[in-house]
Amino acid sequence: MSQRANDPMAAARPESGAPDYDVERIRRDFPILHQEVRGHPLVYLDNAATTQKPSPVIDAVKAYYERDNANIHRGVHTLSERATRAYEDARVKVQHFVNAADPGEIVFVRGATEAINLVAHSYGRTHIGAGDEIILTQMEHHSNIVPWQLLCEQTGARLKVVPVNDAGELLLEEFEKLLGPRTKLVAVSHMSNALGTINPVERIIAMAHAFHVPVLLDGAQAVSHLEVDVQRLDCDFYAFSGHKVYGPTGIGVLYAKRDLLDAMPPYQGGGDMISRVTFDETAYSKVPQKFEAGTPNIAGAVGLGAALDYVGGVGLARIQAYEQKVLAYACDAVGQAPGVRLVGTAGQRASVLSFVIEGVHPHDIGTILDSEGVAIRAGHHCAMPLMDRFGVPATARASFGIYNTCDEVDTLVKAMHKIKEIFG
Ligand SMILES: Cc1ncc(COP(=O)(O)O)c(C=O)c1O
Repeated sequence: MSQRANDPMAAARPESGAPDYDVERIRRDFPILHQEVRGHPLVYLDNAATTQKPSPVIDAVKAYYERDNANIHRGVHTLSERATRAYEDARVKVQHFVNAADPGEIVFVRGATEAINLVAHSYGRTHIGAGDEIILTQMEHHSNIVPWQLLCEQTGARLKVVPVNDAGELLLEEFEKLLGPRTKLVAVSHMSNALGTINPVERIIAMAHAFHVPVLLDGAQAVSHLEVDVQRLDCDFYAFSGHKVYGPTGIGVLYAKRDLLDAMPPYQGGGDMISRVTFDETAYSKVPQKFEAGTPNIAGAVGLGAALDYVGGVGLARIQAYEQKVLAYACDAVGQAPGVRLVGTAGQRASVLSFVIEGVHPHDIGTILDSEGVAIRAGHHCAMPLMDRFGVPATARASFGIYNTCDEVDTLVKAMHKIKEIFG
């Protein structure tokens, strides 16, 4: 039976050049898309791993190095002042993008992984001890599992895990049972990288806060597909990576509520995070500098600022509406291909289509599709516990971004016929 018949996400094909979303214009901004791979036009469907960069981001990084490059904060010369301004302006752009109350709540880090490690080290070691519990979910990326495991090894705390149902949705009634006086932190992905599930984070936060438990959201996937308002969500920590929201690699963000950051000890020591050092003691800078030891990725921050301007210019509400239609079209088209089973069919999901084909290893799917110019990801997606839950070692994953089209979905489906030819 057609997936469309019972898929609530199924929708009509959004045409390129639809009145309020000019995807062809957006595509023109991404130089990398206009190339051939193995003799075919590139179809890039690996956006959950990393997104491509629009010209304004590439230009901003280039202009920074051509005009403004210097070290920041302590310089009195013009270039240092310009570089400092560019870096701090980028912080304000991030603040507005996630609607934080204050730029001091935005800490620049390398990416979501470092943001979560920072919280585990600094907040975790101060507030979490033997016998305490940290609640995660079965669908977490390894980046939101391993730092907490390390903390548990060091402190004697324990992990508790919220299970998911067969559609890949969190079982909130199980979450409720896990919450209790021993719970010291809840860490949950806003959106799953392996399934695309959008978690009901408002409810999760309200439930946790009823027990006075802070919540960390791993926003690595969500931030390029959904409008994020940290004040409305009332999350305590929000982590994301620049490279998944059309910005450079090596730059990311930890948002944390100001009072939490003020009370947290530094994560790393070094230059820029101090106000005074003697051999007897050190006084630290205020937040966010207290958490930014050493020379930061200044060009990365500038590029991230440009990426957020770009995404904001298109508008996340419009991006979300368009991407939902592409995803629905893809679920329908891929789901009907012979032998295909979709993994992850949550009612609320975005831009990720995970699937397996009976009798074909996902790596073979990935390799054959690459021979047709189609880039997808095959593997465990750094979510091995979730793969175990679904009884598969790996899936093939097509993930969509701001510039993908239904024509590209058609190319994917056509390329999938080659798999059938080879494997029968
Ligand atoms: C849900 C999720 N969390 C965390 C990460 C880690 O991001 P990064 O490797 O950029 O630190 C990823 C990356 O794929 C992810 O998808």
